[in-house]
Amino acid sequence: MNSHAPLQNRNILLGVTGGIAAYKSAELLRLLRKRGATVRVVMTQSAQQFMGPLTFQALSGHQVYTSLFESELGDGMGHIELARWADLLIVAPATADFMARHCHGRADDLLVAICRATDASQMVAPAMNQQMWLDAATQQNVAQLQQQGIRLVGPNQGSQACGESGPGRMVEPEQLVEAVEAQFESGLLQGEHLLITAGPTREPLDPVRFLTNRSSGKMGFAIARAAVDAGAKVTLIAGPVALETPTHVHRVDVEQAEEMADAVTSHLADATLFIATAAVADYRPAEVAGEKIKKGATELQLKLVRNRDILAEVAAQPNPPFTVGFAAETERLRDFAQKKRQQKQIDLIAANRVGQPGTGFDADENTLSLFWEGGEKNLEQTSKQQLARQLITVIAERMDEKSRAEDS
Ligand code: PMT
Repeated sequence: MNSHAPLQNRNILLGVTGGIAAYKSAELLRLLRKRGATVRVVMTQSAQQFMGPLTFQALSGHQVYTSLFESELGDGMGHIELARWADLLIVAPATADFMARHCHGRADDLLVAICRATDASQMVAPAMNQQMWLDAATQQNVAQLQQQGIRLVGPNQGSQACGESGPGRMVEPEQLVEAVEAQFESGLLQGEHLLITAGPTREPLDPVRFLTNRSSGKMGFAIARAAVDAGAKVTLIAGPVALETPTHVHRVDVEQAEEMADAVTSHLADATLFIATAAVADYRPAEVAGEKIKKGATELQLKLVRNRDILAEVAAQPNPPFTVGFAAETERLRDFAQKKRQQKQIDLIAANRVGQPGTGFDADENTLSLFWEGGEKNLEQTSKQQLARQLITVIAERMDEKSRAEDS
């Protein structure tokens, strides 16, 4: 789907820091727009010593952002809005100082504050004097940024503006555009159709009340987004959540578990991968009162009946897609997850601990333990978006392995 125009309608935030290579970023911006991306630009104070914001404003068609203080931002895009808006943040050129501040978690100017606040993939194109690049502290910072999941592009070797020669030249704009395109099109799930459930369900008791849970949909939406980036066609069956639909995702909104089950059934035909991230209610009230239930006796008995198990139904199809379930557990994560995987006959289960702050339901971060037949992998605590990318990589490997085993 994205193979011909991976940047079409993508939101790219271009960060420009203070180096002589800043002039190349104007060309980078022009090329990104030419390929269909919407680009907004953030400049640091020192970047403005090398290039004027007006140049980037004219080329991007948008105001250029230079200050952390929203009153100076004009069009209402504060650092949080910009962080949320971006599908990708690319910083080019990235100075040694910017990288040092970024990897140490600083948030004292607009660009590093956005780096903290965004869930988007981040790319950095360093540009500096060769001695500065080779300096031990810079190299440590580079390693730390990479550990944080930030992709470094370059630098190249060659003659430098300061008259020296060596590593430190910013990668040329054309090469950077290729790297950006590749970022959106890892191709890991090229040709696959992902059907994914996300969010909670609501099981009505009467016209004004329902049973539900704390799922926000963040984990499932992050996976949907990572799958699109990996080249998949994505259909997202979403319970009631307050999240924006990721670009290129076909979203179907449902409320009750039985509606979610019906929506999955009707979209299953050409799905090659099914991921059940939703926190589906296992039970619903046996009867839904037609009028608001009145307060009366000191006790009210609720009779609940079982809902369909969507994940088990998908896995039991005659020719099922590669099926991935989640397990939300408050204890004995491994045992219960493995049991669920075996009982439901699914290819892979992603287990997360829930019921404690910081990860799981409604949190921005999570940890996952993945289990499949004959293997397992722990994914350390990080943002749900980073985890989603790591999960997609493991799923793609397992799908590959399964199809090779079936062919042989
Ligand atoms: O949405 P967030 O706030 O980001 O939180 C993410 C999450 C904690 C909800 C998510 O990571 C997660 O764990 N989702 C699964 C929650 C759950 O219902 O787990 P479970 O162990 O009860 O169910 C096991 C699996 O069966 C799940 O894949 C579930 O989607 C599926 N299931 C369960 C019941 C049912 N009737 N149909 C199903 O498909």
